[in-house]
Amino acid sequence: MHDYFLFIGLPYVALFSIIVVTIYRFNSNRYGFSSLSSQFLEKKKLLWGSVPWHIGLFIIILGHGAAFFTPKLLQSLVANKTVMYILEIIGLTAALFALFGLIVLFVRRLRNSRIQAVTSNMDLVILTLLTVQIVLGILTATLYQWGSSWSPGIVGPYMHSIFTFNPDMSYVKELPFVIKAHIVIAWLIILLVPFTRLVHMFSLPITYIGRLPQVVVWSFRRQKEAVVIAETEDTTRRYFLKALIGITTGVVLLLIGIVDKIIPFFIGPALSREEKAKFLKGRLEKIKKAVKQKELEHERLINEFIHIADLKDLKNEEGLYFIDYKMKPGLAFKGEDGLPVLYSAKCTHLGCTIANKVKDGKLLCPCHISHFDIKTGNVIDGPALEPLPKINFLLKDVNDQVVVNIDKSKLNEYKVYIARSEEI
Ligand code: HEM
Ligand code: FES
Repeated sequence: MHDYFLFIGLPYVALFSIIVVTIYRFNSNRYGFSSLSSQFLEKKKLLWGSVPWHIGLFIIILGHGAAFFTPKLLQSLVANKTVMYILEIIGLTAALFALFGLIVLFVRRLRNSRIQAVTSNMDLVILTLLTVQIVLGILTATLYQWGSSWSPGIVGPYMHSIFTFNPDMSYVKELPFVIKAHIVIAWLIILLVPFTRLVHMFSLPITYIGRLPQVVVWSFRRQKEAVVIAETEDTTRRYFLKALIGITTGVVLLLIGIVDKIIPFFIGPALSREEKAKFLKGRLEKIKKAVKQKELEHERLINEFIHIADLKDLKNEEGLYFIDYKMKPGLAFKGEDGLPVLYSAKCTHLGCTIANKVKDGKLLCPCHISHFDIKTGNVIDGPALEPLPKINFLLKDVNDQVVVNIDKSKLNEYKVYIARSEEI
């Protein structure tokens, strides 16, 4: 359930916030729609922080944009291994660059008393989130390599499903924790942008191009000449109306999107007889799958042992799929000694299902080409880092008794089980 909130609810709240609150803030307080520069309070560290941060972030945004909006182009580019390595190195260097800049900016805010005076709690929250986000990004890139080759097939379709109001979290819900956290924090950052000085990213200073250079200097006369700006009732009303129009437009657009989904859900699209039959068949298949899934879950809830196969039916070179106690796929083989060998069939890279054929003593994950040793489960090559976990088994004889001392001459009579107590 929380996945629904994190990967479907939160994105829409974040998008609503970044569109509506940004428009509202722009209309209601254009003066505050800025980075609230502190350059005249401290320059040196700002330069060392701001430049690497912006350059690094710009490159990262370009890379992410390619995965979000042009996944096919990125996929065709990284099909060439050299290009993939180059892109990965550029991405990682940019990330380290951005992290360096961010840490300098963070330390500057915490240590310089003049900057502290103009630092709000929200500044600290957003700086913390950004730092965590960059670290999670670096972890994603290094632990689950090579993101440039797998992310177009996951991130692109997920983002597309969000932006087309057809949310589908199946692409992301099985991802490892680090990547999921990276995605959730991204939505949190997007949600908070309009409440922070980060809104300045939307103000393009186009008029600056033709403007004469200006130097900002301290003027102590300023204190004497402090001007109290009193807004007339008229201006306030105008701001209020503009904000109202901004919010209403945002809400109306969101409602159109929601209604567009809800109406066909209840009324159903107008279909021909053939289409209806096809549609119903699809739904029946889905229901059958769901029933099968629930039956398996039920079986695992009530039984201490689950029958996987008869030992005589297991093969050395071709695994038999089964569902373990955690409702995840497993693979059962016959080892060289004639005894069963059971592995989790969930790839330790990003959770794809391992292929069941053994080739040259190796098991293959087809998603991003990781090979595992059939004897040990260890990674031979590919982006996966952890070995495939073994699943313990037990044998029962013809009388349904658990075999304590294995009799090699009776192997063909034995049945292979997994047991709840043997879960790993
Ligand atoms: C505030 C927004 C975000 C920031 C600041 C951010 C930052 C980063 C950084 C610094 C990296 C490491 C550098 C790299 O390899 O490109 C990274 C990698 C990655 N991020 Fe993000 N990210 C953000 C949003 C997202 C979102 C929304 C997704 C997915 C829906 C995502 C998916 C990924 C993936 C898959 C990688 C690994 C790329 C690779 O291995 O080359 N990021 N991110
Ligand atoms: S999921 Fe990527 S190699 Fe298996």
